[in-house]
Amino acid sequence: MQKVTIKEIIKKKNKTPIVCTTAYSKTIAKIADKYCEIILVGDSLGMVLYGMESTRDVKIQTMILHAKTVKKFAKKSLVIFDMPYKTYTNKFTAYKNAKKVIKLTKCDAVKLEGGKNIANIIKYLTKRKIPVMGHIGLLPQFSIDFKVKGKSFIQEEQILNDAKAVSQSGAFAIVIECVIESLAKKITKSVSVPTIGIGASKYCDGQIIVSDDILGLSDFSPRFVKQYSNLQKIIERSIKNYSADVRQRRFPSYKNVYK
Ligand code: KIV
Repeated sequence: MQKVTIKEIIKKKNKTPIVCTTAYSKTIAKIADKYCEIILVGDSLGMVLYGMESTRDVKIQTMILHAKTVKKFAKKSLVIFDMPYKTYTNKFTAYKNAKKVIKLTKCDAVKLEGGKNIANIIKYLTKRKIPVMGHIGLLPQFSIDFKVKGKSFIQEEQILNDAKAVSQSGAFAIVIECVIESLAKKITKSVSVPTIGIGASKYCDGQIIVSDDILGLSDFSPRFVKQYSNLQKIIERSIKNYSADVRQRRFPSYKNVYK
């Protein structure tokens, strides 16, 4: 089992689709590691695991705890640490925090949300050997409307310029979230690094979906999600059956008892 490298990810542009998902725990990390090139310890954990209203409430300490576990059990994939809100407000803060999280978690790279406005930060980090994955389009840490992006000419131009700025600043890949198909296609053609789409069409170089969405553990499923299982239903059935067994004294049975 060979460790995926950033060089290999870059080489996949325009060739083979890059498979990515999120992981926050040991079990998902172990399974995702078998099938994905990239595992993101996403700040989406604030909403999907902790029931927060937005990713803005996620603290760096919480991310570190989950990232340490994921990195320990994902032996092959590239593991990316999603920098939480307000941890990269300027290049010095970003560098201090990114260096700390990489040292503590051993993650392979960090992800930052933003375009032209954070180009100087991405450049500062990459020049100092901290690999960065960009994130443009809909930015959950800063968005208020959570609407699809790129429908107007002005927005299209702005996001395209963001993509170019992020790529030119040294990011090795760019997540494009929730933009119209034609824009995703344009961006993918315009930048030299792989694009990873989430709600950004088949024209990206790779895809990412939040693991809880794949598994049917989330309460809300946007149009861009394909749900492959309904674990909520399976969990509900399991706990319901367990509770009935306890109440009817069917559990524990002789099989579960020490003599
Ligand atoms: O936090 C996250 O899971 C993400 C993905 C949606 C790309 O940023």
